[in-house]
Amino acid sequence: MSTVTLKVNGGTHTLDIDPGTPLLYVLRNDLDLRGPRFGCGLGQCGACTVIINGAAIRSCITPASAVQGEITTLEGLAKDRKLHPIQQAWIDEQVPQCGFCQNGQILTAKALLDRYPHPTDAQIRDGMARVLCRCMTYYRVQAAIKRAANAMTA
Ligand code: FES
Ligand code: FES
Repeated sequence: MSTVTLKVNGGTHTLDIDPGTPLLYVLRNDLDLRGPRFGCGLGQCGACTVIINGAAIRSCITPASAVQGEITTLEGLAKDRKLHPIQQAWIDEQVPQCGFCQNGQILTAKALLDRYPHPTDAQIRDGMARVLCRCMTYYRVQAAIKRAANAMTA
């Protein structure tokens, strides 16, 4: 066991954990943050995505002890009980179907929009390509990203 300090959604948490514990397990089991999902556990689907220092990171293959910097989970997007524009766009476009992948879709979209405030279709396709959705919500995801981009830059 070792002592690990994580900065998550504006708070600081110090935990005694096995240093190899995936960040996903710590977020869900120790910090009770259920936004990030366990999908493949292999870094291939994106369901477990969180944002670390602005980048979309797969928390299932990231040891918690290796994380430096600020972690944002889905729970950290809304501020003062007001939805983030990306969350609102997801609602307006009625993106989710079963919902399982949507944590990864939304957080990957956030990292994309932070990097490209006005993304082209190609940038959206490239940026979102590795976040899998077996309900095939991809077209609605693209529409929601464009809606969010407009809202965030209006
Ligand atoms: S659960 Fe992490 S990439 Fe699939
Ligand atoms: S909404 Fe069902 S897997 Fe994406």
